[in-house]
Amino acid sequence: MIILLLGSGGREHALAWKMAQSALCSELFIAPGNPGTGAVGQNIALNTGDFQAVATFCREKKVDMVVVGPEDPLVNGIYDFLKQDAELPGLIVVGPSAAGAQLEGSKAFAKAFMARHGIPTASYREFNRSNYNEGVQYLQQHKLPVVLKADGLAAGKGVVIAQTHEEALVTFEEMIQQSKFGSASEKVVVEEFLDGIEMSAFALTDGSSYVMLPEAKDYKRIGEGDTGPNTGGMGAISPVPFYNGDFRQKVIDKVVKPTIEGLSAEKIVYNGFVFFGLINVAGEPYVIEYNCRMGDPETEVVMPRLQSDLVQLFLDMSAGELGQTPVLMDERTATTVVLVSGGYPGDFERGKTISGMANLSDTDLMVFQAGIKEANGQLVTNGGRVAAVTSMGDSVQDAVAGALKSIDSISFEGMNFRKDIGYEFMN
Ligand code: AMP
Ligand code: GLY
Repeated sequence: MIILLLGSGGREHALAWKMAQSALCSELFIAPGNPGTGAVGQNIALNTGDFQAVATFCREKKVDMVVVGPEDPLVNGIYDFLKQDAELPGLIVVGPSAAGAQLEGSKAFAKAFMARHGIPTASYREFNRSNYNEGVQYLQQHKLPVVLKADGLAAGKGVVIAQTHEEALVTFEEMIQQSKFGSASEKVVVEEFLDGIEMSAFALTDGSSYVMLPEAKDYKRIGEGDTGPNTGGMGAISPVPFYNGDFRQKVIDKVVKPTIEGLSAEKIVYNGFVFFGLINVAGEPYVIEYNCRMGDPETEVVMPRLQSDLVQLFLDMSAGELGQTPVLMDERTATTVVLVSGGYPGDFERGKTISGMANLSDTDLMVFQAGIKEANGQLVTNGGRVAAVTSMGDSVQDAVAGALKSIDSISFEGMNFRKDIGYEFMN
C-alpha cells in the first residue's frame, strides 16, 4: 500500500511511526509532516487545505490510502472530494464524510444528534441572533457555573465555563453579537456544567461496525495540578485506571453503540475515528464532545499501546470487516509528556535550537515531534507544542518517571512541561 498521511503534529508522527511498522505499508508520504515524520516516511510539501493538490498527488504517486490527521480538512469535506474523483477509483480515505465530521464541526449538530439517539450529555439550548434576547433570559436564570460553546471549529478556544452570570452574559454577547470566533460563534450552545473526571475513548468505524482502540486521559491545562489556561494538551496516559468493569460497559452500551447505530440509521458516511470526549459523573458516562479524528497528544499514548497492525485495521474498515483483526493492546501504561515553548499557550517565540533529542533511543521510549523544523541541519522549535515524549512502564509512576528521565537530556530555550501527568493515579 502506498499511503499518504495528512498533518504535521505529534499525532501524525505517532500515526506515521505506527503505519511505517506495517508490512502492508510499502511507501509512506506525509504532507506536510515534520522532521519526525520525515524519519519514518517521506515528507511532501502539500497544502492539506488544497484538496485538488492532494488529489493530483494521489494520482501521480498511485496512492492507495489517504489518512487524515486533523479535523479541518475533514470538516471541509476532503473525504467527499477525494471519493468523488473518478480518476481515483478504489482510493481508501480514512476519515468521515463532511456530514459525519459535523459531530465535531458543529456542537449544535452533535447535541441534536445525541438527543435524537438518547446519548447521555449535558442538557442544553442553542441560540443565535434571532433568539438572542431569549438566550439572555435563559442565561440569567441558569445555575452556575454555566458552559458556553461556540458552535463551529475555534481551535480549542470556543468553550467558556462562566462562573458568574455577568461573565456568561459578556461571553454570550461577544460570541454572538461581536462574532468573537467569526462564523463559528454565530450559533452558541449553552449547557449545564457537569462535575466529574474526564477521559477519552476512541473507536474506528465504517459507520456500522466498529472496534475500540486503547482509551486515554489528557491533561489540558498548562499548569501542574490542572491550573492555568487550557492548551492543546500537555500530556496523556493510557490506560485510564477508572475505565474498567461497569463504567467501561456503560460507555459501550450508552455512548459508543448508540453513536454508531445513529450514524448508520441516519445514513451518515463515516469511515474513520470517533473520539468520544467523556466525563464520569458519579460512575455515569456523559459525552462532553465528539471529535472526528484522533486526539493529540492522546494518539501519542494510544499508538504505542496498540499492538495490532493499524494499516490492517484500516483495510478491515474499508472492507466493512472491522472485528476480523483483533485489537491487541500492550497491558502496560503509556504516558506522554509534552514539551512546549515558553509562553505557550500565549505568545511564544520560534526558532530555538533543540539539543539532545536526536540521540534518545530505547525500545520503551518514543519522542514524537510536533512544532519542530530543520534549519541548517539542526532541529529548531516551530510551534507551541514542540514534542511529546512517551514512555512505557508497569505503572503510571514508572511510565512518567521514564518520560521525565529522557526529558532531562533534551533542552531548548524556554522549554516548559508538566511533571505531574497522571498525578491522580499515583499512589
Ligand atoms: P471541548 O472543546 O468541548 O472539549 O471543551 C473543552 C473543555 O471544557 C472540556 O474538555 C471540558 O473540560 C470542559 N467542558 C466542556 N463542556 C463541559 C460541561 N458541560 N461541563 C463541564 N466541563 C465542560
Ligand atoms: N487533546 C484533545 C484533542 O485532541 O482534541
